[in-house]
Amino acid sequence: MSHPDLEKFSIIGFQEDLVGWFVEHQRELPWRENKDPYRVWVSEIMLQQTRVDTVIPYYTNFMREFPTAEALANADEEKILKAWEGLGYYSRVRNLQSAVREVVEHYEGVVPNNRKEISALKGVGPYTAGAILSIAYDLPEPAVDGNVMRVLSRVLLIKDDIAKPKTRTRFEAILYELISKKNASFFNQGLMELGALVCTPTSPGCLLCPVREHCRAYEQGVQTELPIKSKKKKQQQKNMIALVIKNELGEFLIEKRPDKGLLARLWQFVNFETEKLEQEKVNIEKEISNFLKIDGFESLGPLQEVEHVFSHLKWHIHVYELKVLSAELELSTSQRWVQKQQIEDYAFPVSHQKIIEQQLKMEE
Ligand code: ADE
Repeated sequence: MSHPDLEKFSIIGFQEDLVGWFVEHQRELPWRENKDPYRVWVSEIMLQQTRVDTVIPYYTNFMREFPTAEALANADEEKILKAWEGLGYYSRVRNLQSAVREVVEHYEGVVPNNRKEISALKGVGPYTAGAILSIAYDLPEPAVDGNVMRVLSRVLLIKDDIAKPKTRTRFEAILYELISKKNASFFNQGLMELGALVCTPTSPGCLLCPVREHCRAYEQGVQTELPIKSKKKKQQQKNMIALVIKNELGEFLIEKRPDKGLLARLWQFVNFETEKLEQEKVNIEKEISNFLKIDGFESLGPLQEVEHVFSHLKWHIHVYELKVLSAELELSTSQRWVQKQQIEDYAFPVSHQKIIEQQLKMEE
């Protein structure tokens, strides 16, 4: 029984054109060097919210440090966070490590080759499961992400909202039939590659497209109107004050973020949320002494402002530098004084890396 979206569609022709093009035109990427499922897995996790160009150097470095599932399973969390520093969405790497530990403990280090077991691993959703099963094991399993939905919305002229979970299910059902049973790996990678290189969001290169003759949107001239995607809510903005606090020895105060939530267990400068500074002329020094619960500190003044955008949230950080006597401050268990040269051993979120850069520049 044929899927209704594939009626009068040349399945074999599409498969051949796509796979043939991928063989000729695929980019040389470090995770394509071999089909080791662990390597494929790491690449797919890194690529989930991050662009290929950004991922490449991180991936190469990660594979040098943690070349096997066993190496990652045995690594210190501090080390893996440091290797991920700057990539964002840090729960990705913490989940990856838990899942890899599970593979080492329960599957003798061999990544499961079926959807049921692989999907039970932490951080492995339907897309990642399909990507590993097809790319590493050549199994005809769909791997539907935003790029694949864009390509297929156009080829099959599907006008469902790709922001809705149900739409992904529709594409999965189509793909179980459309995917090449002989070469599932190249078929899925071909769809991803086509989305990255040709069937791009705003100006698709239809004249160079290997599957143009199959494309229903192209036939009707509506390729740039697809996919349909409803808008997300606007990000919330938070104003923060971050403090670069130095003591009489020239050490810096840093603290570890809590175990749960945004940027969990990364390190940061002490910071707190505040009102809008521009309008209200808040007394910064008073806010700082209230927050730190100390009277005496030497203000070295405002240092910089940092903007950082998350998917759901924007931080506007006002950075202040100050000097305190270490005896004046009672540290919590998550806080410590560190020397400037040691700062690089800790993993910081990008916004706080910007503060470090500025600080080190000023001290030169
Ligand atoms: N995006 C997601 N997975 C990818 C892959 N394996 N190669 C290139 N881009 C990708």
